Amino acid sequence: MAMTMTHSQPALVARHLSRSFGTGEALARVLRDVSLELEPGQVLLLMGPSGSGKSTLLAVLSGLLRPDSGAVFVLGEDLWRMSERARERFRLRHFGFIFQGFNLFPALTASEQLEMVVRWGEGTSRREARRRVAGMLDQLGLGRRAGLRADQLSGGEKQRVAVGRALLKQPRFCFADEPTGSLDWSHGEQVIRLLHSAAHDRGAVLFLVGHDPRLVPYADRVLHLADGQLVAEPASASEEVSP
Ligand SMILES: Nc1ncnc2c1ncn2[C@@H]1O[C@H](COP(=O)(O)OP(=O)(O)O)[C@@H](O)[C@H]1O
Ligand SMILES: [Mg+2]
Repeated sequence: MAMTMTHSQPALVARHLSRSFGTGEALARVLRDVSLELEPGQVLLLMGPSGSGKSTLLAVLSGLLRPDSGAVFVLGEDLWRMSERARERFRLRHFGFIFQGFNLFPALTASEQLEMVVRWGEGTSRREARRRVAGMLDQLGLGRRAGLRADQLSGGEKQRVAVGRALLKQPRFCFADEPTGSLDWSHGEQVIRLLHSAAHDRGAVLFLVGHDPRLVPYADRVLHLADGQLVAEPASASEEVSP
């Protein structure tokens, strides 16, 4: 698996990112000179305590929150020097998002939430959209729930619909902020396997935020955010490798 990564150019390069919130006494320096490279096909797991800035970093890397300083290059393009419209288009085209809040349309069925993405984004025929959506819902274990509205689904089911919606576009990047946080592990694992194979099979980048240690085996790289900076896996975890 690691071999797919060795020859590739980084798909995303972040340089010297800083971001604070508030002013004066209340100033919180959440990101302090963070640099990072992500390669195609790579699953990066970002861990760290609540409030350490994981969601802030995800938002800065994915074009949702402007950094105070530093740059993010995605597929060679400087994300924060694009016009707002260009950045929006770039996001729609290349990025899939999965957040904890699902962001589903309550009145649409599970199928309809997904069909919408395929038909809008790509101008696919209804028949082809239905075929792809049915395949995705089956993979997510939601085949029999396809006709239910979002407000009739459980939290775990909604999250799986949100994952399907993000992956159907086949984005080059998937940003997932604690996607398994609200799921029991059997569903959480299903979600993480699907995200993992999206990255490995298609060469997409998965930027995954989470704190569950059961996610670690699905990651190619694990970084921790502490005091506004990225640190590699704790030394104790790599010591096991030595003979
Ligand atoms: N829009 C905002 N305005 C003010 N403070 C914020 C904002 N977003 C995040 N923060 C603060 O930045 C810190 C990091 O938040 P966040 O990135 O959400 O952390 P995490 O995702 O690791 O829990 C927290 O102290 C949070 O209160
Ligand atoms: Mg967060």
